[in-house]
Amino acid sequence: MENLEKMIEKADSLEELEKVRVELFGKKGALSKEFAKLKDVPGPEKKAFAEGLNQNKVKLQTLFDERYTTLKKEEIEKLLKAETIDVSLYGNLGEKGALHPVMATMDKIIDYFVALNFAIEDGPKVEDDFHNFEALNLPKNHPAREMQDTFFCKDGAVLRTHTSPVQIRTMLKQKPPIRMIAPGAVFRKDYDLTHTPMFHQVEGLVVGEKGEVNFANLKSIMSEFLHYMFGDVEIRFRPSFFPFTEPSAEVDISCIFCEAKGCRVCSHTGWLEVLGCGIVDQNVFDAVEYKNVSGYAFGLGVERFAMLLHKIPDLRMLFEGDTRLLEQFR
Ligand code: DAH
Repeated sequence: MENLEKMIEKADSLEELEKVRVELFGKKGALSKEFAKLKDVPGPEKKAFAEGLNQNKVKLQTLFDERYTTLKKEEIEKLLKAETIDVSLYGNLGEKGALHPVMATMDKIIDYFVALNFAIEDGPKVEDDFHNFEALNLPKNHPAREMQDTFFCKDGAVLRTHTSPVQIRTMLKQKPPIRMIAPGAVFRKDYDLTHTPMFHQVEGLVVGEKGEVNFANLKSIMSEFLHYMFGDVEIRFRPSFFPFTEPSAEVDISCIFCEAKGCRVCSHTGWLEVLGCGIVDQNVFDAVEYKNVSGYAFGLGVERFAMLLHKIPDLRMLFEGDTRLLEQFR
């Protein structure tokens, strides 16, 4: 009997206790065996023997039930401990996204001009011949149209090849003075290390009374802007040609890859071309019927700025959506 009691006390998990239950109370268990002895007990002693058996049975059952309650309680406590939730902890906020490097560069450019009171203007991406070419002093059959590998749409419409048509739209809808930038996507039939069929430009236009806006203004604002973008670089203005400006200039910065010593990126010249600009051609003002005004304009490619800022070697990488590149900008 003491043996049996010990078995119950020793069980230290519900699983073991279940085994003990079978061994004690099961059909072939210890108690059944004890009860089986009853038939061999002589008549007069039967009653006392049976009473003894029953008392033991009750005792064991009580012991068993107590042990069961204790073990069950322990198990529940263990589970509660393991599954506790600290509701005061922060949850997992998930992975954070980030602006695409082209958009971040665009924002940086826009911030500069907005701080100088430039308005932001917009125009359609499917443009007509007048706004994209004609009014910008690019008459039909003019050889300068070949500079731009145009995507043609139905009925003479085109995908705008630059953001310059927004200059025309802005001048047609409002009177001078004008101080605007036009950021946006543009399209050209081109695809290599430094060209993609869709890219982004920021156009700028400033118009004031005749004599009010001059090349010196243009030169100083472009220089300051490029220092803001690229830090301590050399800047040079090179005479160039655009149909909508006269005189025109292309602006270079000293190569930030080789510190102007000469490398593959700058074609061993020490210089990187970053934007075009100039004094607005009188023919452009004539097309929008502006009289007695002067102005300057500029245009730049945002992807090129992003590539230079982040030393990205291939422009096409900006459009592949490869997270190994993009997650560096988080
Ligand atoms: N539209 C020119 C281009 O796409 C960029 C440009 C150059 C814009 C000179 C201008 C400018 O406004 O004055 O290459």
